[in-house]
Amino acid sequence: MNIFHVELKKTVDDSYDIEAGYSLEEKLIADIRNGLAGNVQKFAVITDSNVKGLYAEKITALLKSAGYSASLFVFEAGEKSKTRQTKAEIEDAMLAEEFRRDCCIIAVGGGVVTDLAGFIAGTYARGVPFINYATTLLAAADASVGGKTAVDTPLATNLIGIFNQPEKVYLDIAAWQTLPPRQIASGLAETIKHACLASHEFFEYLDTHMDDIWAFEKTACEHIAQENCRIKYTVVMQDEHEKGLREVLNLGHTVGRAIETVSDYRLLHGEALAIGLAAETALARHFGYLSASEQSEVLRLLKKARLQTAVPSYIDREALVQKLYTDKKVKNGKLRFVIQQGIGKIAEYENGVYAIPVEEETVRKIIMDMPGR
Ligand code: GLY
Repeated sequence: MNIFHVELKKTVDDSYDIEAGYSLEEKLIADIRNGLAGNVQKFAVITDSNVKGLYAEKITALLKSAGYSASLFVFEAGEKSKTRQTKAEIEDAMLAEEFRRDCCIIAVGGGVVTDLAGFIAGTYARGVPFINYATTLLAAADASVGGKTAVDTPLATNLIGIFNQPEKVYLDIAAWQTLPPRQIASGLAETIKHACLASHEFFEYLDTHMDDIWAFEKTACEHIAQENCRIKYTVVMQDEHEKGLREVLNLGHTVGRAIETVSDYRLLHGEALAIGLAAETALARHFGYLSASEQSEVLRLLKKARLQTAVPSYIDREALVQKLYTDKKVKNGKLRFVIQQGIGKIAEYENGVYAIPVEEETVRKIIMDMPGR
């Protein structure tokens, strides 16, 4: 048999800007006029039922008045919509409106919207460009930046997806003020995660300025937007596809994602993450990476952010232990956890490996011993 060698070496420049500011809708249109989406004339604005009337309709109308063709695609708000079915429904609606390869997707909303729309963009007509217009703190802190896109399955969150980088990300800080407090707290969980894994200074900043953040004080909001990006991108720029280092961004997520699924999404992502971070501090104590006073500091900051760390009574803790095995870090059937070393650093297991294998019994004891509510 003859062998034909296909040589396809790639040099890719996926660089892009993240712009944080207040009410950036007009700026988005100006950037598009200046070539952000190349010469694309047709835009699919994807949003959810909460954000539709607040931002997405306005952006669609602005696009139309600027002479572009634009259609709005809306799905029911909530994590339960982040499914293959919703993806297919939006794709079918786009096909019916004759969207082809020469279009651009604009995701307007929180993490569910940007995760779903970014995934649609990656597969629609084998890939079209997309822009994220993030309206929540959670999306600004984590979901809309970094290029991870996915949908959930009944088994677990984010199991089906692709790495796909946007053309640009807008973080609309003005939009945070429209959010219910639970959503702000949820975004603060990802923010505290970043502080725990990378910056003691940022941790102290959050501790000192928590009231300012809740009052949407401009300097404090801009600072957390900037620090979240700085910390996340310091990692992503070194390991976009999570071959090693990027696993540190999973701090608290092994238990967090599992409890989010077991709660059947009664817990918001960040609320689940807060419980995951608390479980991880107990693991860190167990392995001697965190002192008792450091553990209390983390738990106290989570409380200041109006996040609860006790396990709700409706959670079946044994089901939670079993759900841990759906984590993407599981290797050869073994649970692996990212564990903080003090405040502002992650424990390194081996050279360049940050997820530490942990026996099921150790994790089970920690989960069973967590306070309930
Ligand atoms: N949310 C973790 C990451 O982006 O890698």
